[in-house]
Amino acid sequence: MPDQSKPFLPDHTVAFLSDPYRFIGERCRAETCDVFETRLLFKRTLCLSGPEAAALFYDLNRFQRQDAAPEPVRATLFGKGGVQGLDDAAHRQRKALFMRLTHGDALQGLLAHAADAWRECADEWLVLGEELVFYDAMRTLLTRAACRWAGLPQAEGDWPERTRQLSALFDEAAAPGLGHVRARMARGEAETWLADLIEDARAGRTDLPEDCATWAVAWHRDADDALMPPRIAAVELLNLLRPTVAVSVYLVLLVHALALHPQYRAPLAAGDSVLADAFIQEVRRWYPFFPAVAARVRHDFLWQGQFFREGRRVMLDLYGTNHDPRSWADPEAFLPERFLSQTPTPFNFIPQGGAEAAGNHRCPGEAITVALMHQAMQMLLQHLEYEVTTQNLALDYSRLPALPREPLCIRVNTVRF
Ligand code: HEM
Repeated sequence: MPDQSKPFLPDHTVAFLSDPYRFIGERCRAETCDVFETRLLFKRTLCLSGPEAAALFYDLNRFQRQDAAPEPVRATLFGKGGVQGLDDAAHRQRKALFMRLTHGDALQGLLAHAADAWRECADEWLVLGEELVFYDAMRTLLTRAACRWAGLPQAEGDWPERTRQLSALFDEAAAPGLGHVRARMARGEAETWLADLIEDARAGRTDLPEDCATWAVAWHRDADDALMPPRIAAVELLNLLRPTVAVSVYLVLLVHALALHPQYRAPLAAGDSVLADAFIQEVRRWYPFFPAVAARVRHDFLWQGQFFREGRRVMLDLYGTNHDPRSWADPEAFLPERFLSQTPTPFNFIPQGGAEAAGNHRCPGEAITVALMHQAMQMLLQHLEYEVTTQNLALDYSRLPALPREPLCIRVNTVRF
């Protein structure tokens, strides 16, 4: 098959990092295409955007995940040896663990711990009576919930340290300079902490409850029927803890959306659950979070006139696909009502990846994410009275994950439980 790649390609890493959410989508729209080739981190990379491109990207016969994510991402956000970089039977077996720990009783258990953490934290906020940096407050709250749910006794009472460690993995992974170094160090510390705990659990040196997530990870058997090496088990436990704490980003964006679109507050406070669902989906569609996901081409092929060479890195644009005018009318408008009349497909609404979760790489944590967002909405609109005290709510699209440029602060005036 002829390789039609251009011999010279300039590197666009700086352009990508300065506008990571819009880099791929804007170029695809400008050139009226779903795919273009560029260099990122000096490597040739095929960039894909749109629903047809998403359907292609999740074709497991065409792409694989081994070594797909760049090293700086594996050294901070993902960890090395985790489910994100597995393929085929090894992936399916490991993924089954995540599906079990993110649905059913496990999900209900996490929600119960989160509800307790809301009550504890809300009392503390009221006593303090000060403005809260909402992102900090939510990261602490979710760290408590996630660590208790996972059965991590050492975390109890050590919340600032654990919150810092788990947050650095997603909040500073893409930061320049020292921030990225802090993320690497936090990963090293957290993996050592949890790998030791896994070894202790296997040797019977802990009194971990047998129904907690740490126990399930410690005793999970891979496709070759072997237990995971302790360091990899730690990576997978962090694949549950880290993103649960990262839901704090969506909770900030939820409060941001409620502040900018106050007309929805009254019906939502009255318990309109259909509207609540639509509002939460629109927050996940409209706001930036994860810009893109990466894979590698399994075998040479041509698609839409573009040559896909075996081994080449491919990146699928999540934000741009969620804003693609071919799927979404008036995509830049925040309109929760669109979800009342339009059912999203697995390839046009992909804030947490596309296709399906169990047999592919889609995020297994969507049910947890949506449930924690529903719970937060209920807490904020039915159990607290709060005001947003930040004046400038403009979002910083160059930050990963994107957040308001000025920290979003609230003052809690009343708590009713
Ligand atoms: C904070 C909100 C979240 C966002 C924006 C998010 C986003 C994503 C994205 C974009 C992917 C990659 C999909 C792909 O590679 O095709 C992913 C994968 C994953 N997520 Fe999430 N996620 C979130 C919450 C969660 C939660 C709460 C959990 C578990 C408790 C979780 C666990 C995972 C795991 C284990 C993977 C790897 C799946 C695989 O490779 O098969 N995520 N997530």
